Amino acid sequence: MQTPETNLILIVDDTPTNLEVLSEALTDAGFEVAVATSGESAIEQIEYDPPDLILLDIMMPGIDGFETCYRLKQNPQTKDIPVIFMTALSDTVDKVKGLSLGAVDYITKPFQQAEVLARVQIHVNLRNLNLALAEKNLRLEQEITERAIAEAALQQLTQDLEQRVLERTQKLADALCTLEKAQVQMVQSEKLATLGQLVAGIAHEINNPVNFIHANLYYVSRYTQNLLELLKLYQNQLPNATPEIQAKAEDIDLQYLLEDLPKILSSMEIGTKRICEIIKSLRSFSRHDEAEVKVVDVHEGIESTLMILKRHLEAKPGQPKIQVFKEYGNLPKVECYPGKMNQVFMNVLSNAIDALTEAMDNYPSYVPSPMIRITTEVRESDRIVIKIADNGLGIPENIQKRIFDPFFTTKPAGKGTGLGMSISHQIITELHYGSLQCISQPGKGAEFIVEIPICDCEQCDFVRSAKKGAIATAMCK
Ligand SMILES: Nc1ncnc2c1ncn2[C@@H]1O[C@H](COP(=O)(O)OP(=O)(O)OP(=O)(O)O)[C@@H](O)[C@H]1O
Ligand SMILES: [Mg+2]
Repeated sequence: MQTPETNLILIVDDTPTNLEVLSEALTDAGFEVAVATSGESAIEQIEYDPPDLILLDIMMPGIDGFETCYRLKQNPQTKDIPVIFMTALSDTVDKVKGLSLGAVDYITKPFQQAEVLARVQIHVNLRNLNLALAEKNLRLEQEITERAIAEAALQQLTQDLEQRVLERTQKLADALCTLEKAQVQMVQSEKLATLGQLVAGIAHEINNPVNFIHANLYYVSRYTQNLLELLKLYQNQLPNATPEIQAKAEDIDLQYLLEDLPKILSSMEIGTKRICEIIKSLRSFSRHDEAEVKVVDVHEGIESTLMILKRHLEAKPGQPKIQVFKEYGNLPKVECYPGKMNQVFMNVLSNAIDALTEAMDNYPSYVPSPMIRITTEVRESDRIVIKIADNGLGIPENIQKRIFDPFFTTKPAGKGTGLGMSISHQIITELHYGSLQCISQPGKGAEFIVEIPICDCEQCDFVRSAKKGAIATAMCK
């Protein structure tokens, strides 16, 4: 705070005597003093050397004290300088007017020196205090502003950090998801690879001997036929056989043998033919490791999968067999990964069998005739649709949303891994640019709808748009 000695008091009065008396008294009291003899000169002076207090006479030539005060209060640079009016003792109206114009006080003429000094001193002190306060306020405001800036910066930093943490977390979650998917795929692929290898191994081992038998059966039946004809010739040419021959013929029941032998041979032929078909199916199923896209008959894949699952479709004690109805459309050959497609058929059909078996175990009267219906058709000439429906218990709505989630299963521990549907979904959507949908009304069974493009080439509009996430209907030329 400034000391009283350094405070500058401006006395504005047109009466030299007043100026003199007041100047002397104030100078003696330690103030610095400036004087002005008119309102105009005072305003000019204040602008280049602002005082700490103004003693302002009212009655002056030119602009009077009130006007001077008014102008000073209008100017932002001078409005805070305290003004003390000097007025005659009786002038109450002037005192009120002066105060209402913004003056802080008034002193009455003739001057009482002690009173003037006391009032000046008080207002100078007040002024100094105000200035100090204003300065402090300013500093405080600055500090507040600086703090606000710092806080804003900190907030921004925190936000940036939070954003980065969020982004990293998202990246980690994505990585984890990818890893999980890869793991899931590995587990299923391995499962299927093992099954495929086993199937392929068995098929290979059985194939040669069965082919050998099947091929030779033709000769066996031809030779047998020849022998039988020869025997008949003997019987005709030599009707009186020796007793020894007759005994042997009776012993081996020649008549029955002659009738039965061709039947046995033909059923053997049917049997080996069936084995050959089974081997063909097994081989078709075990194409799982074919990594390339092939042009294949999808029906063959479905058939071979049904063949593998045949045992599970058969009737069991107290339970009827699961009937399979096929409504195969006239499908063209399709470009796909045959092994992977078989994997999908395997998963969907196994689930249908599981659902029907569960229903038969727990609610036998509910499914008196368990069945699976397989429908295939061409859609809009560029895609094929395979629908596999069962009449099991269906899938509750809250579960439907989750069946394609990896590891989601409703089956008891050790029975289901919960991978089948998520893998199948991936195979159909990501590998074949198709779609796999599940429609189910609880209590009314479930239907899985596979839709894939017929052609998988880069030029095909359907595949191209599917790769971009859209469904197109254009066809590959
Ligand atoms: N046809 C269906 N009827 C009723 N529920 C089904 C059917 N298909 C799938 N689900 C439900 O979807 C779940 C997930 O099927 P998903 O094939 O992924 O796994 P899972 O069959 O349980 O196990 P696994 O990995 O051995 O196949 C099943 O547990 C079952 O609840
Ligand atoms: Mg399953």
